[in-house]
Amino acid sequence: MKEKIEKENDRLEKIPTASAEGGVIRTYVDWLLDIPWTKATEDDLDIHHAEEVLDEDHYGLEKAKERVLEYLSVQKLVKKLKGPILCLVGPPGVGKTSLAKSIARALGREVVRISLGGVRDESEVRGHRRTYVGAMPGRIIQGMKNAGTVNPVFILDEIDKMASDFRGDPASALLEVLDPEQNNSFSDHYIEIPYDLSKVMFVTTANSTHTIPRPLLDRMELLHISGYTEIEKLHIAQRYLLPKKIKEHGLTEETMEVKEDALIEVIRRYTREAGVRNLEREMATLCRKSAKIIVSGDKEEVVISKENLNEFLGKPRFRYGMAESEDQVGAATGLAWTPVGGDTLTIEVSTFTGKGKLILTGQLGDVMKESAQAAFSYIRSKAEELHIDPNFLDNNDIHIHVPEGAIPKDGPSAGITMATALISSLTGTPVSKTVGMTGEITLRGRVLPIGGLKEKTLAAHRAGLKTIIIPKENEKDLEDIPDSVKQDLTFVIVEHLDQVLEKALVRQ
Ligand SMILES: Nc1ncnc2c1ncn2[C@@H]1O[C@H](COP(=O)(O)OP(=O)(O)OP(=O)(O)O)[C@@H](O)[C@H]1O
Ligand SMILES: [Mg+2]
Repeated sequence: MKEKIEKENDRLEKIPTASAEGGVIRTYVDWLLDIPWTKATEDDLDIHHAEEVLDEDHYGLEKAKERVLEYLSVQKLVKKLKGPILCLVGPPGVGKTSLAKSIARALGREVVRISLGGVRDESEVRGHRRTYVGAMPGRIIQGMKNAGTVNPVFILDEIDKMASDFRGDPASALLEVLDPEQNNSFSDHYIEIPYDLSKVMFVTTANSTHTIPRPLLDRMELLHISGYTEIEKLHIAQRYLLPKKIKEHGLTEETMEVKEDALIEVIRRYTREAGVRNLEREMATLCRKSAKIIVSGDKEEVVISKENLNEFLGKPRFRYGMAESEDQVGAATGLAWTPVGGDTLTIEVSTFTGKGKLILTGQLGDVMKESAQAAFSYIRSKAEELHIDPNFLDNNDIHIHVPEGAIPKDGPSAGITMATALISSLTGTPVSKTVGMTGEITLRGRVLPIGGLKEKTLAAHRAGLKTIIIPKENEKDLEDIPDSVKQDLTFVIVEHLDQVLEKALVRQ
């Protein structure tokens, strides 16, 4: 680096001070001097302290915290550990970004965060060559400059939202950054001299792993963080979010109190989410309104309970419990997994005179369409056993719709739900409103396993369903589901569609 700077200095002496080129050289030298080359912070490798810090910032998240502590322990034993790169995956607002920050705090390292969402240009990662007007180093080097040390915790946020187009592929540049074998000589187009990133601890976050390019995914160790249950949210609100907001708003425990029943009400009727971000926002609203009451001198202490909650937050935004209040013919409740957590999904079927066509709407992806076809074919082949008139199928069109129509949906896991809704509609038998189901269907009516059972179950619980039908092969995943949720639900394990119908249809 010294050589490089001396050379640039020589060049600078030979050209007029005010020239454009002089400016370019000066900026370049400034950059070289600004980024850290040797300065490092000492790691705080006290496990107990780290544990305290992690617990202080976040409730639960046991697996993730445990993994961080393991990392620290190994670090302490071997002094210098190459990799691993942690990738925190989970729905929005479950604390991925804030956990990453808290890792830095536990280690006593500097922390920098860059968001990769919408980055579509390789030069955003690697910078532009100096020959370009207004060239700058890429975001990695800029991040290092902000960190000021060679060993920060570097958070690469939203790594799944990176895009690529004709300007090059930012993911391939990141490959070099995240590869412990290569990143001791990271090349930035602007800086030119290889830069050593090997002491940086990279932590990435993502909502889902589907859109992360394979080679990148292989370099990271995935830590899944799933959505929270109602009880967990209550604890988080009581112990973390509310005290934090009360303090931020200049209030104290003496001047403001929120009763537990009010918090439960907020969780149930004012938010519907896997994480706690909206919950946090509602807490802030409560504090703001309380601050106004206190400052205007109306009261000295504000107590918020279930009874006066709507004076603060207005009308409830969500219905707690099932949306459909009666058992319906031709509508069944499925469970969906989305990058923003699980959700329930109503599938509607209606029939009318036509030529035996199957109409599918609701922005369904190819896989989902095919699974609807499979369900329909199964029903056709078994029409007699199911007490469905084959002539009816020939002379009517059948329409399957999945609200909400504007949101694209895909995946095979709604197979049994579509089959159930179809059979319900064709036979006029209602589907029980408290039953939710998930499972892929084959042409022979067998039920195949699905992914994301935990998120789906949490969503079913939020929605107030009572019975959940799941494929036999997913029985093992029940382990991951918190007991507080399991208590409220009955799981029905099935291998064949007949068993689904047995449970879901309401015999008259
Ligand atoms: N387990 C928890 N304990 C305490 N606070 C939490 C917990 N989980 C989340 N929070 C709080 O919720 C807020 C949102 O979290 P954060 O921004 O980290 O979400 P995220 O997972 O990064 O979401 P996104 O995917 O949208 O970026 C933060 O203020 C965080 O402190
Ligand atoms: Mg985040």
